[in-house]
Amino acid sequence: MNFELFNPQDNLPNTEKAFSLFPQLEEVYASLGNTPLISVPSPEGKASIFAKLESENPFGSVKDRVAFGLFCDAINKHDFSQGELKLLDASGGNMAKALAHLGYMCGIPVHAVIPDAVSEKLVEELKSVNAVITTVDYNFFLLGVLARGQEIAHDDSSWTLLSQQLNLVNVAVHQYQTGAEIRRQLNGAHADGWVAAVGTGGTLAGVSAALRQDNPQLKILASTPKELPYGSLAAPNGKKKFAGAGGFGWGLRQPFINKFMPEEPSFNQVSYEEAIIAMYEFFQLTGIKIGPSAAANWKTAWKLAETMTPDQKVVTLFADAGTDDEREQGREWFNQLKTSNT
Ligand SMILES: Cc1ncc(COP(=O)(O)O)c(C=O)c1O
Repeated sequence: MNFELFNPQDNLPNTEKAFSLFPQLEEVYASLGNTPLISVPSPEGKASIFAKLESENPFGSVKDRVAFGLFCDAINKHDFSQGELKLLDASGGNMAKALAHLGYMCGIPVHAVIPDAVSEKLVEELKSVNAVITTVDYNFFLLGVLARGQEIAHDDSSWTLLSQQLNLVNVAVHQYQTGAEIRRQLNGAHADGWVAAVGTGGTLAGVSAALRQDNPQLKILASTPKELPYGSLAAPNGKKKFAGAGGFGWGLRQPFINKFMPEEPSFNQVSYEEAIIAMYEFFQLTGIKIGPSAAANWKTAWKLAETMTPDQKVVTLFADAGTDDEREQGREWFNQLKTSNT
């Protein structure tokens, strides 16, 4: 597998060519980002936690931003007089969903390489917008889907591999869009702490770069699944993990973090069960639906906030809304835990 970063950016990809060839993208762009930064339950007498609510994006997750950026960048680089543009990427699910919808809107074929453990509902949705789907055994997630994506691109060069794990457009989108929004929304204040889950590491690295501009002392704590943490020497495994994030296994580290961040961040390990229970608890407390990685981030942000003073702010990001089935599972586990503790 190739692990080299490429395509350095010092701004968001230009949208001019994309909008002129596919004017329907302007509507998506208008509803992309500018998500609310909400105040969320925080430890008493300690720092306050704020979260960017990314489920408000047009296709329901933070990945809509990156998919849009990668999409425009691929359009900018493609010579349409030489043939059609066909896009391929490996994904845990949210990127596949966003790319498939964008492709469908523009008549651009999209091939998604996803783990075989994704929900039936997502597979149905991908099929309904004509995505080509390749599934990979979840026992090899995350590395397995990345390797398969590179293999497909190698065997059939008509597919353009977007490579969200290595393409620095991903980091740029979070630095110049997500991070810039947070800086504006803090209204002259600065973040003292920043928490994100690491899938590609684009969110963590990009937003860190933006927030450090206002506070070079920014404390960073990342969420990682307990079942296969970032940098783990263990082999990939089929244990359930909170979605959207994960270590590679075999000691490999996400290149955006390993090569791009000035120092390796600290990691907080959150188990699948803890994340699912926290999804339910958060919904009970606020009435707001958040997904497993968001719930893991809430727990991690809470931990960081406990080390800080009441005048300080910890910012995090809630990537998606999760499913009602997961919240129901969280309710069951929450009640079982309560019973066993009494
Ligand atoms: C639900 C969810 N949470 C977190 C992440 C991690 O984001 P990043 O890839 O920027 O590290 C993703 C990415 O796919 C995701 O889908």
